[in-house]
Amino acid sequence: MSGCFRIAAPAKLNLGLEIVGKRADGYHDLVTILQTIAPPDDDLELAAATYVRLRIDDPELGGPDNLALQALHRLRTDARITTGAALRLTKRIPIAAGLGGASSDAASALLAARALWNLDTPDARLAAIAGRLGSDVPFFLIGGAALAEGRGTELTRLPSPPVVFVVVAPHATILRKTPTLYAALDSADYSSGAAVREQAARLCAGNSLDPTLLVNAFARPLYALRPDLAEIPAIMRRAGAMHPAISGAGPAHVAPFIDPERAKWVATTLRAAVGHVARIFVAHPAPRAQPRRIR
Ligand code: C5P
Repeated sequence: MSGCFRIAAPAKLNLGLEIVGKRADGYHDLVTILQTIAPPDDDLELAAATYVRLRIDDPELGGPDNLALQALHRLRTDARITTGAALRLTKRIPIAAGLGGASSDAASALLAARALWNLDTPDARLAAIAGRLGSDVPFFLIGGAALAEGRGTELTRLPSPPVVFVVVAPHATILRKTPTLYAALDSADYSSGAAVREQAARLCAGNSLDPTLLVNAFARPLYALRPDLAEIPAIMRRAGAMHPAISGAGPAHVAPFIDPERAKWVATTLRAAVGHVARIFVAHPAPRAQPRRIR
């Protein structure tokens, strides 16, 4: 038994997110644009081993419900193999922020394990396994920019917009954040999906991002649950980020910039204002990385 693969797991942003309906299976139909970014990314190393096991730098995330660990078990079962793998996971993406860290780790684990175990599992089958792990996981198998519909698993690739992003990730823990915020949606938070589809059409036509279309259905329920977070858009505007929007179900907020130097300056201003209660970084669109053999 030998071999070791390394892969980066990028964060993502939602560039607009509309909830269009409730589904019979309990999930919601949404229309969103997803974009993988760098920085930050998590770092995964997967080495041949007898059993499936995980070593992670954040012990709170090392339990059996870790999504990357579950991904390894699912792929192993699907491929009907008994070989193991030792996963070493270094977290850099803020946890439960709306930046997709756990989903990205799971997708990266699937890609690395397919390579390590030398499996011929087709992409479509890997995507089906990914969809059972979580609604955002299939997107992270392809990365870049994509329009996501249905549960979030129906993907159409888009060109990435030629912008950089200022991201504000508040140090705010919201218990069972995603299910809680989905459950808190009411009919007034639903919309047709037209704004996000218009944005997708703009990107397809080679136009830049229209920041006025960065709507997010979770704004009302998120700010109702945590009124302190409702101040973030105004803080960002005062620092020069004129079009702040929530990523995912939050609490991370994002604002696009054409000029990277201006984005850096705004991020510095924001660090001085709220750097003690939030992580602030400048990120650019980045493609999905592939696993690399390192031993
Ligand atoms: O798919 P995932 O496991 O990430 O979803 C977590 C929770 O978010 C689900 O249990 C559900 O409550 C909610 N959800 C939803 N509709 C979606 C995606 C997630 O209601 N499209």
